[in-house]
Amino acid sequence: MARWEVSFALERRAGVPLFQQIARAITADIRRGRLRPGDALPGTRTLARALGVQRLTVVAAFDDLVAEGWIVTERARGAFVSTDLPDPAPRRFASGGRSAAVAERPGFDLLPAPAPELPYDVPPGALLFAPSRPDVRLAPAALIGRAFRRAIARRPGALLAYGSPEGHPRLREAVARMLASTRGIAAGAANVCVTRGSQMAVSLLARALLRPGDVVAVEQLGYRSAWESFRLAGARVVGVPVDADGLRVDVLERLIATQPVRAVYVTPHHQFPTTVTMTAGRRLKLLELARVHRIAIIEDDYDYEFHYDGRPVLPLASADPAGVVAYVGTFSKVLAPALRLGYVVGTAPLIGRIAAHRSHVDIQGDRVLEYAVGELLDEGEIQRHIRRVRREYRARRDALASALVDRLGDRVTFTVPAGGIALWVGARSLDVEAWAAAARSRGAVVITAASFALDGRPRPYLRLGFASLDVTELHEGVRRLAAASPAENRARS
Ligand SMILES: Cc1ncc(COP(=O)(O)O)c(C=O)c1O
Repeated sequence: MARWEVSFALERRAGVPLFQQIARAITADIRRGRLRPGDALPGTRTLARALGVQRLTVVAAFDDLVAEGWIVTERARGAFVSTDLPDPAPRRFASGGRSAAVAERPGFDLLPAPAPELPYDVPPGALLFAPSRPDVRLAPAALIGRAFRRAIARRPGALLAYGSPEGHPRLREAVARMLASTRGIAAGAANVCVTRGSQMAVSLLARALLRPGDVVAVEQLGYRSAWESFRLAGARVVGVPVDADGLRVDVLERLIATQPVRAVYVTPHHQFPTTVTMTAGRRLKLLELARVHRIAIIEDDYDYEFHYDGRPVLPLASADPAGVVAYVGTFSKVLAPALRLGYVVGTAPLIGRIAAHRSHVDIQGDRVLEYAVGELLDEGEIQRHIRRVRREYRARRDALASALVDRLGDRVTFTVPAGGIALWVGARSLDVEAWAAAARSRGAVVITAASFALDGRPRPYLRLGFASLDVTELHEGVRRLAAASPAENRARS
């Protein structure tokens, strides 16, 4: 063959190391066919001189090429293009004009899909009063990033390996300490299983607790994704009404008398979606019913940290000597949903079951992140962040409440909740579905009660989340909402 000649120039300020530039140029020439299998490459000294670089730079390039299988070196003879090349160019498998695309339909039967949890459809520029989203603009990204880097740099061996499905001990211990100091739950690390958010926690509980045909009692207006997890485990989901005191435990009691109720799923602190707090009397009654009938209470405390007036009400799990509560918490609202960090707290045998199920779904969580967040909890950083965000959300709650009063006056009714991340707004004199549709076309997306109803029936309420919009956005959102209300529409036409 004609001698191969250097036909490329190195860019000294490209940000790509010189040895990599040399290696890439040589592989490019192999791909193009300028260098063929078996061809000799110039010696490292010759090439270094031709390129104006140190010989060691060429040696490093050759080392890379050998490692990737592009060239071989032979003692005393030099370097040659490999005769057993890695795919020089991606092969095309399609032949004879037939498409190699994936078939349009599976060649087997699929089971019916669960109702998917879809992101809200928000037109560009519209403001979404998200029912239970935090403001990720407030997430402590730099803090988490630093802690993550620190963890992976200091403990790569331990943290990048397989570990236990219950989660990293550092986070389990830190969560147990946090629960003891803030929620009166006297749990140890053995009572905590870390999960990827509360959704996974509920889904694992469904697998661990439910048999086909079991009944799960749920709040009649409630959290749809949890219901779907129970249905996927073969259970039947039955609604129990909620009033101003929380779940109607008397109705639950009657249900238990006639149906095989195996679990109750509740959000007693800031009920989702109505925001009411379950009263002490109902709590005691619920715990007692569960104890007597051996029913599991799945307590989803998704926004415990956001309580503004007075002290938060302690969870059911803080007064559970009978071991009937499976407590579910999450870092999705206080840190960020995409971190996927939540936990189940319960008796050690329950945690063992949850972990066994988890090991078959997900093996384990993200150990680096778990360690990093455990460290941030131990250092008090997350608690400090929560205090900052709590102050901000409180201001947002108050801003939304006063904007609603100013702009919508007696067309809406609501009670300002002592905590949580949303207002439950009644609009008896309005057709809320028509109002929501009109608001949408004016750039304010609101979610109506029908989305939270087990029976799907409309009711004259909206859940207006205030956490993910800042005060200015809340004012603008309410302005758009008011402009779309039937009274203003009529006045204009
Ligand atoms: C009541 C309730 N439970 C659970 C979740 C799930 O949260 P995550 O899985 O992110 O912890 C949400 C999220 O919107 C929620 O509102």
